[in-house]
Amino acid sequence: MLRALGNGVLYGVFADVLFIVAAAVGTLFLVLSDGRRALEERSLQLEQLTHQLLRAQEDERRRIARELHDQAGQVLTAVKIELDLEGRREASEMVGQALAQVRDLSNLLRPSVLDLGLVPALRGLVEDFGRRTRVDAALEIDEPLAPFGPELEVALFRVVQEALTNVARHAAAGRVDVRVGVENGSVRLAVEDDGRGFAGEPTPHLGLLGIRERVTALGGALAIESAPGQGFRLEATIPTGAVA
Ligand SMILES: Nc1ncnc2c1ncn2[C@@H]1O[C@H](COP(=O)(O)OP(=O)(O)OP(=O)(O)O)[C@@H](O)[C@H]1O
Ligand SMILES: [Mg+2]
Repeated sequence: MLRALGNGVLYGVFADVLFIVAAAVGTLFLVLSDGRRALEERSLQLEQLTHQLLRAQEDERRRIARELHDQAGQVLTAVKIELDLEGRREASEMVGQALAQVRDLSNLLRPSVLDLGLVPALRGLVEDFGRRTRVDAALEIDEPLAPFGPELEVALFRVVQEALTNVARHAAAGRVDVRVGVENGSVRLAVEDDGRGFAGEPTPHLGLLGIRERVTALGGALAIESAPGQGFRLEATIPTGAVA
């Protein structure tokens, strides 16, 4: 009878331990799934915030560009005409230089070249880069490239702009190739140089972070390949129907 009692106590303890373990596992599971849900929510919020930020940045750039063009540009043009009429050549040339800088700045802020379409805008960007840097820059486009939405066009333009700036700043390259094509409902953009490359994963600063954000905000993917002495290759694939 004593043994039976002993066994009963043992079973009781075992049941208690089992209950405690089950409760602990259950709580842990709840905490983990709550944490995961909260994390998912946070990353969604972060994505939306980044998207809004990029849009606000583009809007702000457009506004400043327009003001620069309409205000400073107009005034400088008027002053230049006055100076020309008065025959003050030296002063007129200086104002002319300031005017050119305002135009460059305004263009940098808002890619007004995009008004002419993505293809001529990219052509201008790549040709201009080749002239300014003496890097052999080539652009290959699978035409006809259907017009995309403005957000996608601005994103593609900005990605090429930043990638080329990086080539000039970091690559010490002799050649850079920019390729754009459409495949299976996605536009594929690659920028590849033959420069010094990079060992491991480059630490992204604002430039690469901005590229990644623009691409992912439109539902696309970004891949970077590089090795020391093997150049640097950046490839973005973005769905053409993407409406962010
Ligand atoms: N074409 C390239 N060749 C070699 N290294 C590169 C190239 N592009 C980027 N990198 C490396 O990746 C790093 C991150 O690039 P990222 O554009 O994010 O920053 P950054 O150019 O240094 O500064 P910024 O934020 O002003 O663009 C660079 O500092 C550089 O080391
Ligand atoms: Mg950069």
